[in-house]
Order: sequence, then C-alpha cells, then structure tokens
Amino acid sequence: MGARDAASSDGRWSAAALLLATGALAVVLGGCDGGQEVDGQALFAANCAVCHGPAGEGGEGAPALTEPAYLPDQLSDAEVAAAIRNGVDDVPDGYGPMPAFSRFDDEQLAALVEVVRDLQDS
Ligand code: HEC
Repeated sequence: MGARDAASSDGRWSAAALLLATGALAVVLGGCDGGQEVDGQALFAANCAVCHGPAGEGGEGAPALTEPAYLPDQLSDAEVAAAIRNGVDDVPDGYGPMPAFSRFDDEQLAALVEVVRDLQDS
C-alpha cells in the first residue's frame, strides 16, 4: 500500500499539444481543393495501404505514417510529395525500399499529401 509519488511527466503533454497544433495547422493549410477532383483516399488505398496500412498505421512493409519523423514539423509537404514521386532508398532495417510513384501528377501528389496529413491528425 502507500501512495507512490509517481513523477508526472508534463513534457509529454506539451509535446502532444504541439503535435495537435501542427496537425490542425496542416489541415487548414492543406484544406483547399484544386479544380480537378482527385480521390486521394482511393489513391492511398490502391497504392500505399499495402505497405503503410489502410489507416497509415504501418505494417510489414513500412513504418506508420504517424511516426514523429514524418510529421509536418519534421517533413514538409514538399518532402512528402518528393518521397512519393521519387521513392525512398535509405530505409530502416527490415523494410524494403519505398518504390517511386513517378506516374502521379502534381494534383495526385497533393491529394496524397493531404491524405497523409489527415492520417497524422487522427
Ligand atoms: C513497398 C512498400 C511501400 C509502399 C507501397 C509505399 N511506401 Fe511509403 N515508405 C515505405 C518505407 C519502407 C518507408 C520508410 C522510409 C524511411 O523512413 O526511411 C516509407 C516512407 C514513407 C514516407 C516518409 C518519407 C521519408 O522521407 O522517409 C511517406 C510520407 C510515405 N512513405 C508515403 C507513402 C505513400 C503516400 C504511398 C503511396 C503512394 C507509399 N508511401 C507507398 C514503404 C512503402
């Protein structure tokens, strides 16, 4: 028995608040639609979910897209788009390289970036 004075870690909370704030900002900035309707969700389901999981939670082929290293303060929208277009060779142990999706046009890339940011925000 006895009350244990567990040291509460406030740092974790401010980190969480920061992530929420940056996520919300990304949604605001990324929220405008171009003229053409591109279904980013469908693109993600067809091309990305096989490795990153249907909700970006990660899987055998790839890490979760909610990894801190991929959040907007670490990896800009342009860098996300470039990773999709060019692929990623330099991957952590246990994962294959991410293939290049060079067939996607700018609008499709933008739609996918938006899906990635949405996943990170939820
Ligand atoms: C064959 C498996 C595979 C597929 C398919 C795949 N990825 Fe990846 N992806 C990876 C791996 C492995 C990494 C880890 C790269 C790293 O962190 O070093 C990665 C990293 C990323 C990153 C982080 C980029 C970076 O610079 O590290 C993003 C964003 C991403 N993927 C988005 C996508 C999107 C969007 C799609 C669909 C168009 C997709 N991925 C399809 C395997 C895959």
